[in-house]
Amino acid sequence: MFSLPEFFFPPGRRLLKSLRLENLPKPITWTKPRRLADFAGPLETSPSRGLFCKFKRSDPPLWLYSFRANMERTRRTASGLTYLEFWDFLERLQGGANEEVELKEHNASKFLKGLFDLEDKVAVVVGGTGVLCGAMAWGLWRAGCRVVLVGRHQDKAEAHFKEWETSPDEARFFKADATERDQVAKIIPAVTKWFGRLDIWINGVAINPPSPYLEIPDEEFEAILDTNLKAVHIACQAIGKHWIDRGQRGSIINMSSMAAIRPLSRVFVYSLSKSALWNLTQNLAREWADYGIRVNSLCPGFFPAEQNRRVLDKSRVRAILGHTPMKRFGEPEELIGATLLLASEKAGSFITGSNLIVDGGFSVTSI
Ligand SMILES: NC(=O)c1ccc[n+]([C@@H]2O[C@H](COP(=O)([O-])OP(=O)(O)OC[C@H]3O[C@@H](n4cnc5c(N)ncnc54)[C@H](OP(=O)(O)O)[C@@H]3O)[C@@H](O)[C@H]2O)c1
Repeated sequence: MFSLPEFFFPPGRRLLKSLRLENLPKPITWTKPRRLADFAGPLETSPSRGLFCKFKRSDPPLWLYSFRANMERTRRTASGLTYLEFWDFLERLQGGANEEVELKEHNASKFLKGLFDLEDKVAVVVGGTGVLCGAMAWGLWRAGCRVVLVGRHQDKAEAHFKEWETSPDEARFFKADATERDQVAKIIPAVTKWFGRLDIWINGVAINPPSPYLEIPDEEFEAILDTNLKAVHIACQAIGKHWIDRGQRGSIINMSSMAAIRPLSRVFVYSLSKSALWNLTQNLAREWADYGIRVNSLCPGFFPAEQNRRVLDKSRVRAILGHTPMKRFGEPEELIGATLLLASEKAGSFITGSNLIVDGGFSVTSI
């Protein structure tokens, strides 16, 4: 596996089928490949991925479109060239050659890949052992991220990994109780040791006991706030500090709920915790925008899963479906598009402090 450099094409030329080398700005100096660890600069690098080549441009007409290619020798780069073709192209370029290089036609999948580029990013999904966040983690992994599922039950993570057919190079489990600060503090060093970086953090733990309001014991009240709110707060402090200390950008996605925007019957403390979480999300979005840290909520409507199974009796199911214009529950995979949008640095670049609702229309239904 090699990591190739950023390479630049003039704006407006992306749609060209071929690129004349004389159109490239000069001079471009090509320094010898060095180890990634030696490199400090604006280009993103991946210490786990071997060599890179560094290019310098002294002439600064404002560019354009850049890409980074992480690939095996046979895999095509974003330009449509194989590794060897691309390498050959760079060598000719270095030698001052002036010839035409075929670039594959720009197509929709390349456009989308560029827009949602998550290749090589690393995502921590707290609560990723569960149903919804497990599906979201799968989506991130399919989009090229390496993912770490955090939860208390390894067997649940293993079940996901088996289904995905993934390897520890791409997906791992970290055991932690998200309500315990000292356990959460160990997640970041472990993940950066495994994967060399950390870009996306999803907070998805929650519990939802359905006690009638007058019967809610203090212990239950505290347990819900601990899991649904304090755990997210602890995690945000840990990952926020990590990114701010390093001057690194990042994306936090907090799992919200319909209960955050309207008080849902039968889940009093859950509603309370989710609406406080929405408030925290907005506050952090404002505080950390300057650091390039985006903080958003993803707000699912109703998706049958483990934590809400006990609440979803027949009458409630009828009430929910009667209130949902699409007249069905959501499927966990239907959260992936929203997850990729919020996670992606490019597609989601101006999205912070938002509550992205995925609910089949539940929230817009009144009479
Ligand atoms: N399902 C829905 O309809 C729905 C709707 C709106 C919002 N949501 C939100 O979406 C998120 C995921 O919900 P889900 O339905 O997928 O729930 P889920 O299947 O129960 O997943 C939640 C996961 O959180 C983990 N967890 C709970 N307490 C933890 C703790 N103290 N430390 C570490 N991990 C803990 C559990 O994993 P371990 O057993 O491994 O600890 C569990 O697998 C939640 O925030 C929920 O509020 C769900």
